[in-house]
Amino acid sequence: MADHYFSSEPTSADVRRTVQARIWGRDYTFTTATGVFSRDRLDIGTAVLLREVEPPTTGGTFLDLGVGYGPIACALAVEVPEAQVWGVDVNTRALDLTTENAKAAGVADRVHPVLPDDVPEDLRFDQLWSNPAIHIGKPELHRMLLRWFGRLKPGGVAWLVVGKNLGGDSLQRWLTEQGYPCQRVASAKGFRVLKATATNPGTSPS
Ligand SMILES: C[S@@+](CC[C@H](N)C(=O)[O-])C[C@H]1O[C@@H](n2cnc3c(N)ncnc32)[C@H](O)[C@@H]1O
Repeated sequence: MADHYFSSEPTSADVRRTVQARIWGRDYTFTTATGVFSRDRLDIGTAVLLREVEPPTTGGTFLDLGVGYGPIACALAVEVPEAQVWGVDVNTRALDLTTENAKAAGVADRVHPVLPDDVPEDLRFDQLWSNPAIHIGKPELHRMLLRWFGRLKPGGVAWLVVGKNLGGDSLQRWLTEQGYPCQRVASAKGFRVLKATATNPGTSPS
């Protein structure tokens, strides 16, 4: 059966290539591979997110939820020298690529690509950034978001990009109903960019 990009261990041959991307005014060359999300170019949704939202202005502990080959995590670490950036993914090939790309960007000491269960239990995040894996299905998506939103610090912020046709507006409403007031901060190329805030201490760090 063909791999999905969210396969935990892709069985396809690991054929590598490089993609160029300009993020927050800097040029990057990322290594990608078969079996990972958007291996041919910086995903349009990710590009919209990074174009519409400015990088954080102060350091902190950030999470890239569904890190893929690492474009968001690497760019955050490059822009914010005091940041520690955790990148979680279920796809081990994606985690290997993020390690490689963080090295190439000179930020391997502050980018931590790990499986979800390998994030230290007591870690809490100032910001969460994500182009979330919508295709895992709504129940799994909701479980994943609640798990990690529950680990935002009080006042912590989440930035998400979601296709309008993939439920961006209903996700905005759902997050607000879950106690994470969520607003649309931009809409471009069929994508919604959402900002959600953790108003209460996180409660579901399972
Ligand atoms: C839409 S892709 C975004 C990848 C990368 N951030 C980018 O912008 O190119 C979503 C990623 O989430 C990962 N993913 C799927 N299920 C996940 C889960 N339960 N926890 C964490 N990551 C997951 C997928 O493997 C995929 O790499």
